[in-house]
Amino acid sequence: MNVLVIGGGNMGMTYAEAIAASNFLTDGRLMIFDKSEEKLAELRDKDLFDVHDQLATCLPKADVVLIAVKPVHAPSLMAEMKPMVSDGQLFVSIMAGVTIQTIKKGLNASKVVRAMPNLPALVGLGMTSYTASEQVSRLELAAIERLLDTTGRSMMLPSESKIDASTGISGSGPAYIFYFMQALMDAATKMGFVEADARLLVSQTFAGAVELFNSSALSPEDWMAKVASKGGTTRAALDSMDDNNVNALIQEAAYAAFRRAEELGKQTEGEEVSHA
Ligand SMILES: NC(=O)c1ccc[n+]([C@@H]2O[C@H](COP(=O)([O-])OP(=O)(O)OC[C@H]3O[C@@H](n4cnc5c(N)ncnc54)[C@H](OP(=O)(O)O)[C@@H]3O)[C@@H](O)[C@H]2O)c1
Repeated sequence: MNVLVIGGGNMGMTYAEAIAASNFLTDGRLMIFDKSEEKLAELRDKDLFDVHDQLATCLPKADVVLIAVKPVHAPSLMAEMKPMVSDGQLFVSIMAGVTIQTIKKGLNASKVVRAMPNLPALVGLGMTSYTASEQVSRLELAAIERLLDTTGRSMMLPSESKIDASTGISGSGPAYIFYFMQALMDAATKMGFVEADARLLVSQTFAGAVELFNSSALSPEDWMAKVASKGGTTRAALDSMDDNNVNALIQEAAYAAFRRAEELGKQTEGEEVSHA
């Protein structure tokens, strides 16, 4: 299978490096295409990929094409790609808010996977949700799942509306965690800790809590009950959060991201495509 990555930016490079380091490609090298001279020089320096500065030299040879440019560049890129696209080629887009229908029309292609990764893909702990047009076969979906899993874990979803919902949870989610971390670091600093100590207190607490959570089937509520005893310090903090409706506010934030993802999708005039 020949794989081409279009766009060697943050995400494209992350996927390209992860695919190159995995056993996904059994023969041949990954192809990567970018337009920026600076990016091309950086890609050539790595000596990990077949670097291309012309679509004509790489797109016709590709079986799977991962599109990782910014959504704003999608229309011009797809217009350039369209005359070179052939039947049977499979396109995986990670462009936020660009619908399957827009990509099908833009490329005159039928096999399209739309994926929503998140930032921890940079360290191999990404969570990617994806859905596909019905022309993508089960066998192809299995291969795409292996490709996406090179940057962490993935989850197949039945429709694009679920991609928008997952954007509100895992796509934008890392920023909510950073928000919580910043608030705790601010509190630690106010309590007199120097920044480096505040950072360690917070980061190790997060890492430890996540490790505990992953070590059993207990729910977050179960773990809270284990940590908090009546009249104790943790109970005082949790009661304060409950009194201030923090749970409802976090849920509202996730819904705000979900609604924004839906709006962005509508702007590309896509119609929903499902794949059970
Ligand atoms: N970062 C995230 O956490 C995240 C999460 C989910 C989804 N995404 C999606 O991932 C995509 C990529 O994001 P990113 O942060 O990696 O963007 P980025 O760093 O800007 O990378 C995009 C790369 O594509 C190049 N490019 C632009 N137009 C091109 C064209 N026509 N042909 C070939 N290359 C072209 C850009 O070159 P120039 O710099 O010269 O324009 C740049 O090197 C976006 O669509 C975004 O919605 C990102």
